[in-house]
Formats: sequence, C-alpha cells, structure tokens
Amino acid sequence: MTVATAAGRDLYLDLLKKVVTNMIYEDPTHAAGLITDPRFDREARASGEDYPVVAHTMIGMKRLDNIHECLEDVLRDGVPGDFIETGVWRGGACIFARALLKAHGVTDRTVWVADSFEGFPTTRADDHPMDVEMDLHQYNEAVSLPTGLETVRENFARYGLLDDQVRFLPGWFKDTMPTAPVERIAVMRLDGDSYGATMDVLTHLYGKLSPGGYVIVDDYCIPACRQAVHDFRDHLGIKDEIHQVDRQGAYWRNGG
Ligand SMILES: C[S@@+](CC[C@H](N)C(=O)[O-])C[C@H]1O[C@@H](n2cnc3c(N)ncnc32)[C@H](O)[C@@H]1O
Repeated sequence: MTVATAAGRDLYLDLLKKVVTNMIYEDPTHAAGLITDPRFDREARASGEDYPVVAHTMIGMKRLDNIHECLEDVLRDGVPGDFIETGVWRGGACIFARALLKAHGVTDRTVWVADSFEGFPTTRADDHPMDVEMDLHQYNEAVSLPTGLETVRENFARYGLLDDQVRFLPGWFKDTMPTAPVERIAVMRLDGDSYGATMDVLTHLYGKLSPGGYVIVDDYCIPACRQAVHDFRDHLGIKDEIHQVDRQGAYWRNGG
C-alpha cells in the first residue's frame, strides 16, 4: 500500500473537508430553526450552523478540523482503538475519518457508523423531561434528517471509502450500544443531540475509551445534551478539562 506524503495527505484531507461540507458547489440550506433564508451562506456552512440540502455533513469546518486533530493525536501518541460516531446523518464526518485513516496507511482501526438511519426517535413519556420538552422528532422532516443505511453506504462508496474498515451499527442507541461489538475506542464522537442519545452512548461506550482517547460532543450547546454530559461526568468523577471547539461542539481527552 502507498501511504501519502504529509503534504499530499494534507491536501487530500483539506479538499475532502470542503467536499463533505459542499463548500465547493455551495448548496442551499433547509430553512429551519432560526434560518429563514435558504441561500448558501459561506460563514454559516463553515461554522456548521446550517442544514445543507445536499452536503454530506452539517458539522462545518471547525468540527471537522477537530476530528482531524484528535485522530492525528491518537495516531501520533499510539492510543489504541477505533473511531466511532453516534449520530451520522449522511455520513460525512465518518467518511472524513475513514479518509484520514487511509491517508495515514492505518489498516488496524475501524470507523464505526452508528445511527437509527431513520432520524430522531419519537419522544416517549418516560424519556428525560428535557428531551420530552425539546421533542426533536418534530425536526426530522424540516431538515430532511432520516437518511437510510443504503444511502450512507453509497455515500462512502462515492468517495472510494467503503471497505471492511467501515462498520455500521443500525438502530436506536438504547438497543445498539449495550451490545455493540466495539472493543476499544480512541475517538468517540457523539452527535445524537438529546439527553437520552448522549447518555446511552456514554454509559455503554465510555468504558471502552483508551487512556489518551477523546470524547467529542457535537451538541454541547444543547442544554439537554450538556446536562447528560455533566450528569455522566459527575457520576464517574471525571475531571478532564472540557475544551470548546466552536459555538456548538466541545471535547475532552481521557486522562484516566
Ligand atoms: C444532527 S444529526 C448528525 C449529524 C452528523 N454527525 C453530520 O456529520 O452531519 C443527528 C443524527 O443522530 C441520529 N439519532 C438521534 N437520536 C438517535 C438515537 N436515539 N438512536 C440512534 N440514532 C439517533 C439521527 O438519525 C441523525 O442522523
């Protein structure tokens, strides 16, 4: 296998970020939430503040840079384990992670792609009260959220990145996380927005995170998600410093 030179790798990964966010062809956004004008806005797209109609990720450039940095840190420092994203939508962030491993010639780490592949769940009365109040299910249609497993697989294939180092975990996190066949994690990226999705993933996966590994929380700006993060950290006495990525996302490195 040929491993890209550092310069070639950087060029590839930089271009890939622009492609998965579609900063290249500049598709419009869904007019949802606070967005009333569907025209492409470069600043909103770059900072992951819109709902792209076509692009393969909505997380923007800074949060892609954060994945880039966390993955290169764990490779450099020899932190063992895989990459997992829980809440993938069209798959763009995971596609970027697979590209990065490939560009570094890494063959012994997997990218785990976990999602319902049918959008946010219907809220039930026994869900966390913050989730019941937020009722994310109502946004499924407005931002075209439900994206089927076959579509996500096809998106990976379009980049030439669908192979046996990509594994899918379809289903609700409460059902898939307890038995997920993931052994060790170097970078876990949570993007399910709600208290329940965040807590289900932390509860079942955090114990598999290697020392020196990263937890990235895309939705730290959402009160319900932030509450789950702090309830979980308080429960385990986790004191690792939380760093903000941009207005929305945050991460910490497992010092334990
Ligand atoms: C905001 S989107 C993720 C955006 C994505 N990371 C990206 O790069 O654009 C949230 C995703 O989480 C999934 N999701 C939310 N709650 C879930 C749950 N409880 N179980 C499984 N999937 C869930 C949704 O289907 C959706 O694809």
